Amino acid sequence: MQIGIVGDIHAAWDTHDTAFFNNSDYDSLLFVGDLARITGSLPVARRLAELTKPSWVIPGNHDAVTLFQLVAELKSRPLAARVGAVGMRWRVARLAAALGPVRLGGYNRVTLADNLGLIIARPHAMGPDRPYFRPYLKRAFGVDDFQTSQQRLCALVNDSPVDLVFLAHNGPAGLGDTPDSLYGCDFDPGRGDFGDPDLKVAIDHARATGHRVSAVIAGHMHHRSKHTGEWRQTSLRRDNTLYINAARVPRIEGHGSRRHHIRLSINADVVKAHAVFVDDRMQIISQERLA
Ligand SMILES: [Fe+2]
Ligand SMILES: [Fe+2]
Repeated sequence: MQIGIVGDIHAAWDTHDTAFFNNSDYDSLLFVGDLARITGSLPVARRLAELTKPSWVIPGNHDAVTLFQLVAELKSRPLAARVGAVGMRWRVARLAAALGPVRLGGYNRVTLADNLGLIIARPHAMGPDRPYFRPYLKRAFGVDDFQTSQQRLCALVNDSPVDLVFLAHNGPAGLGDTPDSLYGCDFDPGRGDFGDPDLKVAIDHARATGHRVSAVIAGHMHHRSKHTGEWRQTSLRRDNTLYINAARVPRIEGHGSRRHHIRLSINADVVKAHAVFVDDRMQIISQERLA
């Protein structure tokens, strides 16, 4: 099973990328969300709709939201966030339609291969202090807090095959509390571990109920800190699970000559990942083994 993983796109996607992945040997493609530069994911979604591989996207905190709503959520203004959430279900439906054959997920499970399930976690995740975009989560999924979110994720695990991969926008809690940790907070070191607690509970529950969690894939915490310029750790192996942060932003550098993605290979018990750079003629220019 060869899976192509694309981190936060933030508008960095063009026809060269589509051509590369359509001509690749990947069985499926997973996108961790944040298609928009800031807001407005539809132009990227329409480009992704040209993909011919089975593909799934989890929405990020920049997808299907308005600028007013994003600022209200960032600044913890519950009333403004409620007002901003009006129309979010419609915006999500529009995004799903723009993606065409590429499927938009969130609190669902799909089959990647015989006996390999993919759990798509809480959509629009943005940090561990509370479930962001709560008015929308409540209306769309009945999720009001981390407790109800983790119950929903654990119920998905219960119905799953033994072998599992998780796809999330933000990664799970418990992987380090320094700015260079996989999901450590780089913009305010005082906030430490910035991973999602509900996702951690679901992963722990999967192991406790006899599942093998091959990989946990997320993004959101960009590889390079905007504040210090420091690079974070991007992969980690723990409890027989490969954790991957795919959010290299910008994912296209050098005027299009370096395009990042991750190759995840799952064969029986062997799980490997490589950071891959491709140029604008669809040639692989470097591959680096991750943890
Ligand atoms: Fe992002
Ligand atoms: Fe994000």
